[in-house]
Amino acid sequence: MAANTIELNRSRQDFAGIESIWLFGYGSLIYKVDFPFLEQRPARIEGWARRFWQGSHDHRGTPEAPGRVVTLIEQPGSICKGMAFRVSPTVFEHLDHREKDGYLRFTTTLTFDDGRQEQGLVYIATEDNEAFMGHAPEADIARQIAAAAGPSGRNDEYLRKLAEALRHLGDDDPHVFMIESLLPC
Ligand code: BEZ
Repeated sequence: MAANTIELNRSRQDFAGIESIWLFGYGSLIYKVDFPFLEQRPARIEGWARRFWQGSHDHRGTPEAPGRVVTLIEQPGSICKGMAFRVSPTVFEHLDHREKDGYLRFTTTLTFDDGRQEQGLVYIATEDNEAFMGHAPEADIARQIAAAAGPSGRNDEYLRKLAEALRHLGDDDPHVFMIESLLPC
């Protein structure tokens, strides 16, 4: 799949007649909320694990020295905590551009802290996209993140902000916190 997913996302869902839709954020969407929203609630999705397995050539790295950012990997029994935003479909024009390096919008079931469930959308970079890097030992991922920077800033800043936001949500994500602990001070 081509790295630039803007066109692919435009035709993935039909928003005709829809005033608002839930969007699940599990990465930078949790702490970089540069889009309007109608409502915001902590939520989780089931069967998915957050992993630093997606390369970043346009935000937190460069084509020559890519960084790593999070995507979701299907994993039965796993729970991924994040933040849900109820948004107008018009925000996807901005977000599709912001997250164009391999992320596609998928429909998912969100569960809120009170147990209520809603259908929503989530951006996932699947392993068939050109920027996908996949599994590596967490120490190697930490070394790569420590060395990478791109137009949106340093890759270690992305990781630290995400870890901080997850602590705020009361999440315990061993993968994220382990990589954070392996960063040089
Ligand atoms: C998110 O925070 O949900 C997100 C992560 C990567 C790309 C797009 C969205």
